[in-house]
Amino acid sequence: MMNVELKPVEKKDWKFILHLRNQEDVRLACHDTSIIDDETHLKYMQKMVADKEKNHWIITYNKKDVGYIKIVNLEFGSMLLNDYRGKGIGKQAYALVFKEAKKLGLTKLTAQVKINRETSLEFEMKTGWVKKGIIYKNNKPYAFSLEKSL
Ligand SMILES: CC(C)(COP(=O)(O)OP(=O)(O)OC[C@H]1O[C@@H](n2cnc3c(N)ncnc32)[C@H](O)[C@@H]1OP(=O)(O)O)[C@@H](O)C(=O)NCCC(=O)NCCS
Repeated sequence: MMNVELKPVEKKDWKFILHLRNQEDVRLACHDTSIIDDETHLKYMQKMVADKEKNHWIITYNKKDVGYIKIVNLEFGSMLLNDYRGKGIGKQAYALVFKEAKKLGLTKLTAQVKINRETSLEFEMKTGWVKKGIIYKNNKPYAFSLEKSL
């Protein structure tokens, strides 16, 4: 059985979110690749919770917490536990979040995928994201900007 669901984020999930965020593959996919400490994370989550332009969810797989997805000002971000990748969980979770975002009245989402991470871009293409442009940093191509119509 394969049961992927979304659940609202509670304060007790904050520690799990930090664990996800500090996994090496996730860090490398982020703008800030450093290990985030407890205090920085706490401040980040407090700010996040206060932000009215955000929606975020814990992804569960057969009732176990396995990932996190957020939309802040239309910008989409996702992360999964290492051991739960490549099982189709990401694909199902994205579909659920797109449905929720549509219900919230959103018509499109944006995302950035670093150029040196072609693998995760392949995944985004399969979930309906479209390449919109290239973002430069220090005159070098740095990331693709992506858009998803809902
Ligand atoms: C990217 C991520 C969310 C994908 O979720 P996932 O559950 O592993 O992906 P799925 O198993 O649902 O895969 C869906 C499809 O994408 C493909 N895919 C997934 N990861 C891929 C990869 N790294 N390279 C190439 N294709 C990939 C799968 O083959 C599958 O294709 P199919 O439907 O034709 O069989 C997850 O691996 C992750 O959290 N990675 C680390 C953090 C990250 O890179 N986040 C995104 C930053 S923008």
